[in-house]
Amino acid sequence: MNSGFSHITVLLEEAVDALSVRADGCYLDGTFGRGGHSRLILGRLGPEGGLLGFDKDPQAIATGQALAAEDGRFVIVQRSFAELADELAARGLIGKVGGALFDLGVSSPQLDDPERGFSFLNDGPLDMRMDPTRGVSAAEWLASATAEEIARVFKEYGEERFARRMAQAVVQRRQERPFERTADLAQVLAVANPAWEKGKNPATRAFQGLRIHINNELGDLERGLEAVLESLEVGGRLVVISFHSLEDRIVKQFMRRQAKGEADKLPRDLPIRLAAFEPRLRLIGKPQYASEAELKANPRARSAVMRVAEKLR
Ligand SMILES: C[S@@+](CC[C@H](N)C(=O)[O-])C[C@H]1O[C@@H](n2cnc3c(N)ncnc32)[C@H](O)[C@@H]1O
Repeated sequence: MNSGFSHITVLLEEAVDALSVRADGCYLDGTFGRGGHSRLILGRLGPEGGLLGFDKDPQAIATGQALAAEDGRFVIVQRSFAELADELAARGLIGKVGGALFDLGVSSPQLDDPERGFSFLNDGPLDMRMDPTRGVSAAEWLASATAEEIARVFKEYGEERFARRMAQAVVQRRQERPFERTADLAQVLAVANPAWEKGKNPATRAFQGLRIHINNELGDLERGLEAVLESLEVGGRLVVISFHSLEDRIVKQFMRRQAKGEADKLPRDLPIRLAAFEPRLRLIGKPQYASEAELKANPRARSAVMRVAEKLR
């Protein structure tokens, strides 16, 4: 399936370098997308190596299947990375993964194709699901959620200051007519937003909040990080690229918590150190951002931040 929309991979070399690919290792790409990172990982693997890709999106899966047909070392799975523990257990891969990469959020084709319903710039059906065969669409959710629930989503996940006002405008308008199209919703949100920011569509934050909620992005991330730690082999790398502060906070706190261990919570006079309190990850380097050259070629890389850690035990 080629939708005609493309994705420019962010931090391509940096992320794959950070994985420290071993030619005969088994790797995980939790967010296959259009396979930019996956192809470079495959390029560094030898004939004994393997790569397992995950994505929720049917168009990403179609691209992954085409790649799997031409390269026997690659397998693609249509599943959330939140469920990777089950998938890896079924494949006997727990504790055997040499490195895992998550390039979070949405792909450019999801944003650019109005038919996917993520775009406030180009009108389309109000869907916003990465996997349109599961869960509820944005239109369905907005038709039944309370004003308080909608305001919470705009505020917590969109960091929208005028969340309540905007939620009330949505609830008021839906009494006349349900929301079915992205441009219709964007217009109502724009009118309700009293403080337009220069160079930013006034519906941007609310749309981000909705998208994160509809796809359970933060919940999936928390589950995925916990599961991936179990799946890595000792010395295996975890590489995560985030695109907004809510994601990055979860990644940063997870890595720090696992790198610190919880030894400081133990009573000082305890004679033995309990293994359960020892650190499980070691942080590798500082957070990394896209270079000037990359930003010139791909402005979407401007909010990307990459964090890397290595499994200790
Ligand atoms: C930024 S894109 C990845 C691009 C990819 N690295 C490339 O080079 O083409 C993010 C992808 O992750 C997928 N995705 C987001 N959350 C997911 C989840 N919880 N489980 C599986 N896939 C997810 C999206 O559908 C999207 O295709």
